[in-house]
Amino acid sequence: MPGEEAVDPYRADNANAGAQPFEGDGMARAFGGQEGIRRIVDDFVARNFADPVIGDIFANHDRVRLTRTLFEQFCFILNAGCDYTGRDMRASHKDMGVQQADMNRLVENLQAAMRAQKVSFAAQNRFLAKLAPMRRDVVER
Ligand code: HEM
Repeated sequence: MPGEEAVDPYRADNANAGAQPFEGDGMARAFGGQEGIRRIVDDFVARNFADPVIGDIFANHDRVRLTRTLFEQFCFILNAGCDYTGRDMRASHKDMGVQQADMNRLVENLQAAMRAQKVSFAAQNRFLAKLAPMRRDVVER
């Protein structure tokens, strides 16, 4: 992909997204469609890279690729018309040393990005509930 660093080969599959998509178009609409999702992801990525607590974990990682794959993942899960082509959550976060406190911080940044985009509180919580089980593939103990 243009502007991205090469990664080791893997098989692209929507199953790598780590969650089944919502049914219907209610969630996609609550997030403002693909345009809204893009704004949320851009803001979310910016908040994570600038974060005083977890920013160091993101430094030196491919921001262009992360922005693209996160957009695809959110868009797929929200049933807004995308396929996810990134790696699975375990492979993506392997040996990164992410702790539960880091995960909590990331969720706060996502909440702030969703709030800024005026996603309803109910829709925010439905989406966060989809992401929550990924914790076991992301957080190391
Ligand atoms: C439910 C929670 C999370 C989701 C849904 C998620 C999603 C993703 C996705 C889609 C990718 C890109 C995969 C690819 O490149 O193929 C990724 C990579 C990454 N994630 Fe997460 N993530 C989560 C939690 C976290 C946390 C808590 C941290 C650190 C505080 C983190 C840090 C990173 C970093 C640094 C990368 C880049 C990896 C690389 O360059 O190879 N993630 N994540």
